Amino acid sequence: MTDIAIIGAGFIGGVHARLIDSLDGARVSAVIDTDVNRAALLAEPRGARVAASLDDLAEGHHLPDIVSICTVSAGHADLAVHALELGCDVLVEKPIDITLVAAARLTEAAKHSGRMVGVVSQRRFLDTSVALRQAIDAGRLGRLTGGTVESPFFRPQSYYDSGDWRGTRDRDGGGALMNQGIHALDLLLWFLGEAATVTAAASCVAHERIEVEDVVGAAIGFTSGAVGTVFASTAAFPESGVRLSVFGTSGSATIADGRLTMRFADGEEIVDDSAPEGWTSIDWAHRAQYADLLDARDAGRAPAIGLDDGHRALAAVLGIYESARTARTITLP
Ligand SMILES: NC(=O)c1ccc[n+]([C@@H]2O[C@H](COP(=O)([O-])OP(=O)(O)OC[C@H]3O[C@@H](n4cnc5c(N)ncnc54)[C@H](O)[C@@H]3O)[C@@H](O)[C@H]2O)c1
Repeated sequence: MTDIAIIGAGFIGGVHARLIDSLDGARVSAVIDTDVNRAALLAEPRGARVAASLDDLAEGHHLPDIVSICTVSAGHADLAVHALELGCDVLVEKPIDITLVAAARLTEAAKHSGRMVGVVSQRRFLDTSVALRQAIDAGRLGRLTGGTVESPFFRPQSYYDSGDWRGTRDRDGGGALMNQGIHALDLLLWFLGEAATVTAAASCVAHERIEVEDVVGAAIGFTSGAVGTVFASTAAFPESGVRLSVFGTSGSATIADGRLTMRFADGEEIVDDSAPEGWTSIDWAHRAQYADLLDARDAGRAPAIGLDDGHRALAAVLGIYESARTARTITLP
């Protein structure tokens, strides 16, 4: 049995608990939250331990095999480093943290720990994403020339008012892109490869009392010569889900509304996202990422999405913010 401790018993911590419940050979062994009452709500129905910190668990010799970090975005890296130092493997929610300095600290610690770190970006596990990636790898789209991705979400003011960290620079690290659009951006980067430059605009047009953008758009130059665009918003009513297109010299593909449509000279091919009864395709993909992590531990291989991927997505987000702030094109590190 693989013991998993969840740190952060908020919205996504609850999702993780349900995912773990559904996996054979794994269980939620502990829930950690600075708000122990909140931790207890998740832990008690599962017979799991409640703690205010990882050190509390370590003192009682109840360390898990894996620590899942589901806390507010700033501080993910330090919690992950601490878990690695205690000898645990780690699954960290996106973004890996909100600065490249923190991300580098985690990468360094992971290198020396011999433990594994997975980074959540569950949309890569959707059937549509997997099928498109396979088509690209098989060369079916030819040479990739570019792509676009939209993440038009809607978050009412009450969403930002619901947590003291939401919409803040120092704890959320950004708005529509850092928190929501990073999923879509990560997909575009996964399909199109290394981003070299970003040129962006961002603003806050429809919310109050937030320090971050609720709409952002950027052009991305890839090292391959391909060109892409990303649009993310939390002020796009009614939100219509992530829409992504990738274009190549022998085929083009669009993912929208849970359907991948690939067009080639000799016709088109369609793949739909699937999920069993009672699951959304996004949660099912999130579960698949957990299953990958467990399999990676058993097989002694790296998880499908690791720190390099998390770092790349964060660097692109921060580059886009820097470009919007300075009205310049930014060369990514
Ligand atoms: N993968 C996804 O689809 C997805 C979806 C939503 C959120 N997220 C990510 O999950 C993270 C949490 O988001 P949320 O919406 O669940 O937030 P939330 O505010 O609902 O929950 C955060 C919890 O973390 C706890 N916490 C904060 N700092 C802590 C610390 N140092 N130690 C222990 N507990 C601590 C808080 O008390 C709170 O219970 C964010 O980084 C967000 O980007 C990912």
